[in-house]
Amino acid sequence: MRPRVRTAILISGRGSNMMSLVKAAQDPDYPAEISCVISNRPDAAGLQKAATAGIDAISVDHKAFPNRRAFEEALDGALQDRDIQFIACAGFMRVLTPWFVDRWDGKLINIHPSLLPKYKGLHTHQRALEAGDSYAGATVHWVVSEVDGGDIIDQVKVPILDDDTHESLQARVLEQELNLYPKALKSAINSTLGG
Ligand code: GRF
Repeated sequence: MRPRVRTAILISGRGSNMMSLVKAAQDPDYPAEISCVISNRPDAAGLQKAATAGIDAISVDHKAFPNRRAFEEALDGALQDRDIQFIACAGFMRVLTPWFVDRWDGKLINIHPSLLPKYKGLHTHQRALEAGDSYAGATVHWVVSEVDGGDIIDQVKVPILDDDTHESLQARVLEQELNLYPKALKSAINSTLGG
């Protein structure tokens, strides 16, 4: 059997997508092993969840560095130290510069809560509601320098209901994100690292 791909998950917050990847990777046939979880916020609730699940969980606090490049060098160093081969961003709220993105080109993916290319950036559910859209959703995509601009790996559509609020829509989309991300990480790894 091919060795599993050493994968890092980058987070900034509660880590529900991160935990769905951790659970998927508990299956020995899953192509990724989750080798570490790194948060740019030391107080991210997801760090504790990852540690409880037995994962190497560390913080690289962006506020401890004078600029983005210094932060990204420290992040890259933590990834190299752990022989990481692939990165999944899951609610990671820092924009990555071309320096980092180029270093990890083809090995760096993200989940975004909209039907890309619609609604790059923040407040995606609110914008879908205000536009009167019939569908919201979530997308897993390759990370490139343009924020939320890379090729799409997989997407899930979620119907918008008449009485939806930002909160109700967000909750239904998140439920679908948790199914989507493990499938998309698997297909991203299989497509690049020869599955
Ligand atoms: C998710 O909706 C994800 O798509 C977005 O940020 C949210 C993170 O939630 N990028 P969680 O930390 O996975 O619970």
